[in-house]
Amino acid sequence: MNSELQIALLDELVALQVDKQPFLDAQWVKAGVDRYFDPAHFADELAVFRAQPRIVLHSSELAEPGAYRTMQLSGRPLLIVRGEDRRVRAFFNVCRHRGAELVGDGEGCSKRFSCPYHAWTWNNEGQLVGVPHEKTGFPDLDRSELGLREIGCAEHAGWIWVSQQSDDEPDLEAHLDGLHDELGGLDADGMAIYQSETFEFDANWKLIVEGGIEAYHFRVAHKDTIAPLFLDNLSSYQCFGPHLRSVLPRSNLAELQEMTRETWDIGVYANVIYTIFPTTQFLVQEDHIAWIHLEPLAADRTQLRLSTVVPASELTPERERHWRLNHDLTVRTLSEDFAIGAGIQRGLQSGANTHLNYGRFEGALDKFNRSVDAAIAAIQ
Ligand code: FES
Ligand SMILES: [Fe+2]
Repeated sequence: MNSELQIALLDELVALQVDKQPFLDAQWVKAGVDRYFDPAHFADELAVFRAQPRIVLHSSELAEPGAYRTMQLSGRPLLIVRGEDRRVRAFFNVCRHRGAELVGDGEGCSKRFSCPYHAWTWNNEGQLVGVPHEKTGFPDLDRSELGLREIGCAEHAGWIWVSQQSDDEPDLEAHLDGLHDELGGLDADGMAIYQSETFEFDANWKLIVEGGIEAYHFRVAHKDTIAPLFLDNLSSYQCFGPHLRSVLPRSNLAELQEMTRETWDIGVYANVIYTIFPTTQFLVQEDHIAWIHLEPLAADRTQLRLSTVVPASELTPERERHWRLNHDLTVRTLSEDFAIGAGIQRGLQSGANTHLNYGRFEGALDKFNRSVDAAIAAIQ
């Protein structure tokens, strides 16, 4: 993020702090609750997840030619692999002979993928290279028609994106709507994963996104974890198409009033949270990124993968304790959010509320939910 933008974002928050004001939308709004538990609504969202480019891996997770990962993404089995040509491709993890799951284990490195049923074999660029008893069983078989079924995949700014809509490479510049270069500025392509952990919890996926785009709950829900690090109920946001950039000032923000603007460094005085629609959040901190990948499993069940992403050059024994403390704090904070989220889910399904209420300082939640609605409308 360039210095001018850092100063502008901090300036806005310093002024609000001086005036003892939160960042406010014009109005507070009511939002219907069905979107959190209605299976028909979740089916619509599933279609959105498949239509949108989604970040699935950090580039360093597929560092070498042949490196691969399997995953379930929006209910579909995928194989993501870096080919000998170093290009990352995404395929359905499904054999083209009679549909067996091609690769059973979650990750590894391989030049070839051989089906466990009858050993049809593909190379790591998806080309069919082996068919036992081909001449007798499949005379005139055109191998070029039976490459692995490919879906759109792209690599940008250190992240691997998959779009299930087609086999075309997703247009990330258009998708990111103004954040394309800013994401590049995070220098994530020079980073590596310190640790990843996967959790599952009984709540709608949007409840976790929403908890990441307001600071109203910090003083209460996170009083034992991150609350002392931040100012009470102060955060700003800006929309970029369906994506959001939120800025959460840290408790040292007032120091900026004594400093010349040119020396302001946003990393020291605020966390920047990018909500990359629909299911990625980057919590950008002074020296690392907490990356949240949400995988909605059902209207009331969500998988979350938390990765602490750090500069590759600092993945050293000397820094281990520092990264461990940061990672553990994020896990503890998220655990507080999971418990609250599961309680909300039970409450929503009880019928007690027909609507939720988003205050003027919770405007980002309304914007996010409108983006979900717009994405559903766009594909219907
Ligand atoms: S189902 Fe894969 S080789 Fe037969
Ligand atoms: Fe939270």
